[in-house]
Amino acid sequence: MFTKDHKLIAPSILSADFARLGEEVKAVEAAGADVIHVDVMDGHFVPNLTIGPVVVEWLRKVTELPLDVHLMITDPDKYIGEFVDAGADCLTVHQETCAHLHRTVQLIREEGARAGRIVMTGVSINPATPVETLSEILPDCDLVLLMSVNPGFGGQKFIPGCLDKIRRLRAMADAAGHSFYLEVDGGIKADNIGDVSKAGADVFVAGSAIFGAGDYAGVIGKMKAAI
Ligand code: DX5
Ligand code: ZN
Repeated sequence: MFTKDHKLIAPSILSADFARLGEEVKAVEAAGADVIHVDVMDGHFVPNLTIGPVVVEWLRKVTELPLDVHLMITDPDKYIGEFVDAGADCLTVHQETCAHLHRTVQLIREEGARAGRIVMTGVSINPATPVETLSEILPDCDLVLLMSVNPGFGGQKFIPGCLDKIRRLRAMADAAGHSFYLEVDGGIKADNIGDVSKAGADVFVAGSAIFGAGDYAGVIGKMKAAI
């Protein structure tokens, strides 16, 4: 589970050196990361291929930090059990790819219970999907992930219109009395993270901004100061 007491920095390993993945994860943990964000892509829902449960299983052995697994895949139901068994702490599925989103979210809970753990339920939407489409599923979400780039690749530019989506989602949640982590993913850097935080986000995914910097502690420190 994530810790609720402060805003959380979640480095995305998509921009890490995959030949040294364990060391990279340990390095960002030592540098102050709160969560490890793992991008799973299937070459179908998004135009890129990355990693599967076996990598999550090995990551689980090298870090105590929560593993935040972002499933950018068609038909995630098929793989939820495997990612739970591999040690995921949070599983986030895309609303756009789930025909029966409520069933998929319940499946995450059930698979967590089967494994004897609480696995957080996450739902993500793409930049062009309105936040209002989440209203019915919010009570069942531990986390909502707003994409601030079109998913598929690291190193893209933050889409400015997403700031207003963060504000609107935060207002919707407050009005309905729902509590969940509001995570934002894509194009987050030390110089825009303050605005993303002010808009209402509390978990910040950053790939290229962290792994592209030589000094992980320096950039994570700057990000924490800005939020
Ligand atoms: C994009 C992924 C992101 C990506 C973010 O589809 O979901 O997590 O790694 O990378 P940056 O921070 O470089 O935009
Ligand atoms: Zn992601």
